[in-house]
Amino acid sequence: MSSHKEQQDTLPNQPPGRKEMSRRQFLTYTLGGATAFMGAGAIFPMVRFAVDPILHKKGQGDFIKVAETSMITDQPQEFTFELQQQDGWYASTATLTAWIRKNEQGEIYALSPICKHLGCTVGWNNNKSTPDEYHCPCHGARYTKSGKNLAVAPKPLDQYTVKIENGWVLLGDIIPNSEVNKEA
Ligand code: FES
Repeated sequence: MSSHKEQQDTLPNQPPGRKEMSRRQFLTYTLGGATAFMGAGAIFPMVRFAVDPILHKKGQGDFIKVAETSMITDQPQEFTFELQQQDGWYASTATLTAWIRKNEQGEIYALSPICKHLGCTVGWNNNKSTPDEYHCPCHGARYTKSGKNLAVAPKPLDQYTVKIENGWVLLGDIIPNSEVNKEA
């Protein structure tokens, strides 16, 4: 009996066992966890705001409405359009050009005007001595209407990805030319 009483008297003053948690430890962990949770809630949106422009590749894969399909004929026509660009936190607008026509199968395609020699801008039918061709004024590169390289340039003109939607021609990314394979 006396030993039981002794035990009762001594228990409250004993140090906690290895696996027991003191009131102080419990409060420390609880407050620490709550503070970390609230801190993460405040910091995460800031971190996301900071890195979002880097992670988000704006413009890629987007299509831009350029011309009504009813305007497109078998003759190449020049159309300009604007592309919103995002480089990190810097936003800008680029003005781009495409030469658009219908091929013999009635399919619409759009060529980039950037010469594959050294990057000057080509034009359609702009050299009287070589009619019905794209001509580059810088060093005389020539291309057929499908963009096939005839002189000076090592490769065909690139083309835009094309989507037709609700009577409009939409242009997307620039890709290597596949139109030359269809040319008669
Ligand atoms: S850049 Fe076009 S021919 Fe040289």
